[in-house]
Amino acid sequence: MGETVTVSVDNGIAIVTIANPPVNALGRAVRQDLDAAADRIASDGDIRAAIIRADGGTFPAGADIAEFPDVPAPLHGDVFDKIEALHKPVVAAIHGTALGGGLELALACHFRVAAEGAKMGLPEVQLGLLPGARGTQRLPRLIGAEAALGMMLTGKPIDAAKALKAGLIDELVPATELDDKAFEMATALMAKDGPLPRASQDSEWTRKDRDDPQLFDRVKDAHGRLFRGVIAPDAILTCVKAAVELPFDKGAEVEASEFARLLSSDQSRALIHVFFAMRETAKVPGIGRETPLIDIKSVGIIGAGTMGGGIAMCFANAGIPVKLVEVKAEALERGLGVIRKNYENTAKKGRLTDDQVESLMNSIAGTLDMEDLSDVDLVIEAVFESMEIKEKVFTRLDSIAKQGAILASNTSFLDINHIAAMTSRPEMVLGLHFFSPANVMPLLEVVRGDKSSDSVIATGMKLGKTLRKTPVLAGVCDGFIANRLMFPYMVASQQMLLRGTPMQDIDAAMKQYGFAMGPIALLDLIGLDVIDFPGEITMTGELVKAERRGQKLNGGFYDYDEKRRGTPAPAALEIIEKVRAAHGIETAPPLQADEILTGLLYPVVNEGARILEEGIALRAGDIDVTAILGYNWPSYQGGPMCWADIHGLDRIVSGLEKMDVQPAPLLAEKAASGGSFT
Ligand code: 3HC
Ligand code: NAI
Repeated sequence: MGETVTVSVDNGIAIVTIANPPVNALGRAVRQDLDAAADRIASDGDIRAAIIRADGGTFPAGADIAEFPDVPAPLHGDVFDKIEALHKPVVAAIHGTALGGGLELALACHFRVAAEGAKMGLPEVQLGLLPGARGTQRLPRLIGAEAALGMMLTGKPIDAAKALKAGLIDELVPATELDDKAFEMATALMAKDGPLPRASQDSEWTRKDRDDPQLFDRVKDAHGRLFRGVIAPDAILTCVKAAVELPFDKGAEVEASEFARLLSSDQSRALIHVFFAMRETAKVPGIGRETPLIDIKSVGIIGAGTMGGGIAMCFANAGIPVKLVEVKAEALERGLGVIRKNYENTAKKGRLTDDQVESLMNSIAGTLDMEDLSDVDLVIEAVFESMEIKEKVFTRLDSIAKQGAILASNTSFLDINHIAAMTSRPEMVLGLHFFSPANVMPLLEVVRGDKSSDSVIATGMKLGKTLRKTPVLAGVCDGFIANRLMFPYMVASQQMLLRGTPMQDIDAAMKQYGFAMGPIALLDLIGLDVIDFPGEITMTGELVKAERRGQKLNGGFYDYDEKRRGTPAPAALEIIEKVRAAHGIETAPPLQADEILTGLLYPVVNEGARILEEGIALRAGDIDVTAILGYNWPSYQGGPMCWADIHGLDRIVSGLEKMDVQPAPLLAEKAASGGSFT
């Protein structure tokens, strides 16, 4: 057949095998080969039935995303229609993850058998797209519009057992029996007369759904959150309405036009960028499979405060035992108590059993003696953010930790090289920067010191995966990538306040952009005592002096009610006025939403460009990933660097100049040459 699809014939059954590693994506070649396979099945008189299966770990996991957006319309739709239209039964033998176009291929087959453990889903929405190979038309006819919409709007796969219940597959078999069972099915079907079941035909479901006028309102109510800010979900609704109300061909036309519209949208460009950027962060030039890893079987954590406790939970959750060191019994008890409470809350929600809570707690051993860390493979320091204390801790640690142990700091801003210099083994030292709450946030910045060895960095990156986090490599500077990037955002938002734009307007503009909360509310959430802004005119220091530390203590910029709803605090307004007067700052008319947006985001892009040109981040995509995972930057905006490319680098450069901010050389150069970051 072709390079990616082979057809062998055995007792009248064509076995069509897709082989396109790593995930059997349905790229151009596979599409063409499948088309040719369908022609052969139709024309070869020796063939009376067919099986479509895949080699390797999975049935196709979708279209080849790397080809987007330059794909011909209607993508796979015509090929799949051709397969469905065959007058010989076609069985899909599904294993692994049949996603997107892969599942749509299976839907075009007449029968579906899946291996236990297989997963099926239509995740296109996560790429700002919709199932564009007739999935929006066939799935509702097969399992009903409501269930189909649930899959398409969330993008979450379901497992094979659930798929069987829903009527998405016809049989479920142990993985080792998949090929035999598919063969058995094809043989039995070959002998049968009568029409083949086709998911393009109207079904009992179509009739039911047509008689259910509340259906789409109900779905929108149930999934309202998923519609916020993004355009794909409404397009999915439009297509599924067409599936319910129109004949298949007409519905397919609606799907094709909606798919084309989404494919050329900024949102899908951004989300596809994010898909690849998330996977690329793990790749570090010069570090590969040949780099020896250090086996991490036990961990020591110094400091059982906010971060130390959360980090201990990460390791316990990953099955790695922890020794947690504190200076005072009281602090240790408090730290362990917080961890227990967290686990017990999870248990209350039914996600852990009481036994699991105990076993997790047993894997975290509290101690007041740092000497107990003499046998662990990795130590993470999470004491107060003070260089003086960290110097002492690392000097002592150097005399305690065994040779070969990795020594890490969770510092947010301090110099890893200076910390490493406190030890006789700077090659074993790196930064492992977790985000609060550490047991929840999915980002891990791995900070490479000048002397950190490749093995230490490779182990740090691998650790990210072990802890189910996305690791991003950062160089040494104040704040590494994420905090340094967002620092100008926090400063600029406070300066806007000083110049007279109300805090609610600032926060509303950024929520409108897609953040869960605006910068002022975020400061209150982080805690005003946690970040300081040396050399900048801000209000956080004054608020802390007034005992206002944010949500956790007395409110901050906002006062909070028992439901954590904020209203601008009169006390904070007074402080703003005081700072304004002290620095002779004149107010101006409040900024409009678009001015707030550019006033806050342009400085972030500028900082991102500096981070890139200094080599602190390996690539622009890494910066975007840290913003998305560390600061909840809306992924459909692509992160700051991708957003900048879409928004226009020349606009940003002239905007910065108007703000009297010097554009970073890399930004200016890219803007001038018509280049881009991503
Ligand atoms: N197209 C192109 N490359 C893909 C791909 C796809 N659909 N899916 C995965 N890859 C690549 C990844 O980029 C990665 O490449 P790398 O090794 O060079 O970094 C490699 O395959 C392995 O992927 P993961 O690291 O993600 O491997 P996992 O084992 O963790 O996960 C997976 C496998 C669950 C299949 C996951 O990769 C995934 O969710 N893939 C995307 C699925 C998807 O979105 N499908 C829909 C595509 S759009 C579509 O089908 C449109 C249609 O309706 C017309
Ligand atoms: P914290 O104040 O909640 O906890 C620090 C703990 O360290 C306290 O319990 C204290 O008793 C203990 N400690 C102090 N000196 C010690 C020593 N010599 N030996 C053992 N324990 C000691 O502080 P938090 O917020 O957990 O911060 C810890 C580190 O993590 C800091 O470097 C901070 O910059 C960094 N960080 C903080 C984040 C946050 O959002 N809080 C986010 C990411 C990093």
